[in-house]
Amino acid sequence: MSVVPPKALRSILVLVTAIVVLLTLFCYRPYSSSVSTLRGVVPEARIGDVDWSRYAYTQYVTNTDYLCNSVMLFEALHRLGSKADRLMMYPEDFSVEDDNTSKESKLLRIAREKYNVKLKPIQVQSRLGVGATWAESYTKLLAFNQTQYDRVLSLDSDSTVLQPMDELFLLPSFPVAMPRAYWLYPDYQIFSSQLVLIQPSKTEFDRIMEAIKKASMDEYDMEILNKLYKDSALILPHRPYDLLTGEFRGDDHSAYLGTKLEKWDPYRILHEAKFLHFSDWPVPKPWDSDPRNMMEKKQPKCQYNPETKEEDDCRALNVWLEIYDDFRRRRKAICGTEDDAL
Ligand SMILES: *[C@@H]1O[C@H](CO)[C@@H](O)[C@H](O)[C@H]1NC(C)=O
Ligand SMILES: *[C@@H]1O[C@H](CO)[C@@H](O)[C@H](O)[C@H]1NC(C)=O
Repeated sequence: MSVVPPKALRSILVLVTAIVVLLTLFCYRPYSSSVSTLRGVVPEARIGDVDWSRYAYTQYVTNTDYLCNSVMLFEALHRLGSKADRLMMYPEDFSVEDDNTSKESKLLRIAREKYNVKLKPIQVQSRLGVGATWAESYTKLLAFNQTQYDRVLSLDSDSTVLQPMDELFLLPSFPVAMPRAYWLYPDYQIFSSQLVLIQPSKTEFDRIMEAIKKASMDEYDMEILNKLYKDSALILPHRPYDLLTGEFRGDDHSAYLGTKLEKWDPYRILHEAKFLHFSDWPVPKPWDSDPRNMMEKKQPKCQYNPETKEEDDCRALNVWLEIYDDFRRRRKAICGTEDDAL
């Protein structure tokens, strides 16, 4: 003989089941215990509480021309609102003192005061006997010694930053990441050292210094990085992290695009790129003089337009000219001309 009638029992069972289901739905958080392990793997999960002072964009400077380029690059990072620190390694014989009126001193103070750049005096690393352009390129590798940071992004200063690259600092941990020198690919599968993401460490820096000591006459920073990290570096996609200005002069863009199927659109490519390197041989770098008029002789040609059946697609030419004009305008505004010395 039951105390509770079967009908009521059924109702109670339905109610209890409903409560259990509801509680489960509201209280159960899948993976809640593993949120902390997700951090560092899923950047979005921790964007809000990143300590950006552990990361830095770095530049190295060996002379006054490059000092100006470097300040320009930091100005761009500042203007575009990049979050990580900015670190400039500059020759220890440049003075930053307030009472020094030299061009170097003024530029260093502009970098520090206007663009929040941290200044780090260093000894320029060079070797006797190696070609002039590259003699001091080992200095770039001092980025491995900046152990006050967890991670640094070394950028060559003969370049333009088009968008911040803060997301690279949040990649999973590894010693080095670089894009491929896409313009040599697939004949040469080597890394470009124009942009290098580095986890500074004593061990890696010791390896680097050892490699510099042993380097042969034709081995510079790029050869050393390729030798040490060819089988262990992470490959960063060159698109959008490393575009050459010379790309706008070429006809075959499949190496940059990564496919022969996609159509080349100079505006879209420029818009998507984050880092643009001035590399346009035989056109000189945009701060150098151009006595042989190479800019005009080698500028991109207007393309055949299948719709109008005329050579009237001048997008590549316009993009290329604008890149150079923009650089010259900024250089004048930030560093002044040679004559007015700021
Ligand atoms: C300014 O600094 C340079 C080194 O960068 C030095 O040679 C020069 O003597 C300094 N000038 C003054 C006025 O202190
Ligand atoms: C590397 O960093 C250490 C510590 O800051 C410094 O004492 C040393 O001089 C640096 N080495 C070079 C070659 O800059």
